Amino acid sequence: MRVWVINGDEGAEDLVVGLVECGLDARLHAADGLAEALQRESNCDVLVVDLDSVDFDPLDLVRGLADGPAVIELAGFGGDALAAQRRGVADFLQKPVADEHVAAAIQRAGAERQLRREHAQLLATLAHETNTFGLVTRDPATLAQLDRLRTVKDARVSVLLEGESGTGKTMLARAIHRASSRAHKPFIEVNCGALPGELLESELFGHVKGAFTGAVSDRPGRFEAADGGTLFLDEVATASPALQIKLLRVLQDMVFERVGDTRTRRVDVRVIAATNAPLKDEVSAGRFRQDLLYRLRQAHLRLPPLRERTGDVPLLAAHTLRRLALEHGLAEKVLSPAAVSALCAHSWPGNVRELEHVLQAALFYARGTEIQAADLDSELVPSARQTGTDQQDLLRHGLFQPGVPLKQLLEVPEREILAAALTHNAGCRTKTARMLDIDRTTLFNKMRRHGLMEFGRSEG
Ligand SMILES: Nc1ncnc2c1ncn2[C@@H]1O[C@H](COP(=O)(O)OP(=O)(O)OP(=O)(O)O)[C@@H](O)[C@H]1O
Ligand SMILES: [Mg+2]
Repeated sequence: MRVWVINGDEGAEDLVVGLVECGLDARLHAADGLAEALQRESNCDVLVVDLDSVDFDPLDLVRGLADGPAVIELAGFGGDALAAQRRGVADFLQKPVADEHVAAAIQRAGAERQLRREHAQLLATLAHETNTFGLVTRDPATLAQLDRLRTVKDARVSVLLEGESGTGKTMLARAIHRASSRAHKPFIEVNCGALPGELLESELFGHVKGAFTGAVSDRPGRFEAADGGTLFLDEVATASPALQIKLLRVLQDMVFERVGDTRTRRVDVRVIAATNAPLKDEVSAGRFRQDLLYRLRQAHLRLPPLRERTGDVPLLAAHTLRRLALEHGLAEKVLSPAAVSALCAHSWPGNVRELEHVLQAALFYARGTEIQAADLDSELVPSARQTGTDQQDLLRHGLFQPGVPLKQLLEVPEREILAAALTHNAGCRTKTARMLDIDRTTLFNKMRRHGLMEFGRSEG
């Protein structure tokens, strides 16, 4: 906690000494007056002001600051504590006041401010997570899709999630359920690819005793279990033609019969389906009913593969590292700039799941608080190697000699990173500049300087 004390000429120093002697655990600074405090207040948690030593309203100092300090006022006889607190002062102490009381007031105000801050941070995180259903992304196309999805989160419209393995379909399905008005009802997951046709039918709709060999008693299915809530049909493209007809009926009318039964049952279930293979292609290939596709796709979201949104990689990596450290009770680690570049240059066939595995291993194995490119999975290391930061490469470039400045040494990895990034983006300068978060002119100048012009496409 940082505390600034404004208390006339000598008074501030005296009070600071007094507070230190009270054992107050804070970084204490004495300010002569307004000018100094004004310069510093952004670095301040608590501002203690003796009103007799200033001719301004201390609240004027902090008003308008997004994260301003708590203000404690010390006043001579006649001050009005109630009025001060109404104006937004954290504490108001009548002089003469013992240093211990000032110290206690500072402690209280500091703790309160910290709580308020954490609360605000929590609200901001919550708001963000609600907006994006907990998905970490800055990809404009994905954010726009999530925006549209939010408008139907409470309606019983079926949602189709398409995306390669590891792009977050299951995570999103769960989040949609949690964010919906059905959150207090069950969320049931069924993987359509995991069971053969007849078994899957009985799993979904249930059966009656004797319906087939082994059906020794009546058994409700997953649609009944999900009544009032959400049923998540994963790998829906693998459903057999017979099952597709039954799914169509239950989606249309919310009615079905258990296998072997004549009684029609009614449910209220929101269906979310997921598929790796684009369902439209399955329809074109004659393997999936078009009418069922329309029923499943009342709302639709395509989660792009990570290689199509490399801009999300640093964000996802930082978020995942924090989460994994917390989960495993490990100290937090950050990625070195070269490690981030190596991650961005990888094509991530396993998408976010693969990124999680790579980071988990790095979190365990990296020594120190910073994860280096060399700490990443060996699959990724070639790009780290290409950065030429090892001794051999520097020797080869004739750079490891006394007197070669660090700035010049850093050109070696820069050239290799640029070459790798250009190759990754098939020479497209616009994509490469966006990936490295530099403007195109800077990229162009660097390419010229490093003799990399043949790597780029001028139109890109
Ligand atoms: N945008 C994201 N933000 C944060 N975490 C994510 C994101 N996308 C995926 N993940 C995480 O990546 C992992 C894989 O995601 P998930 O299991 O939802 O993928 P999936 O698309 O269902 O894959 P599969 O097709 O193999 O079932 C999970 O641990 C999930 O939490
Ligand atoms: Mg999944």
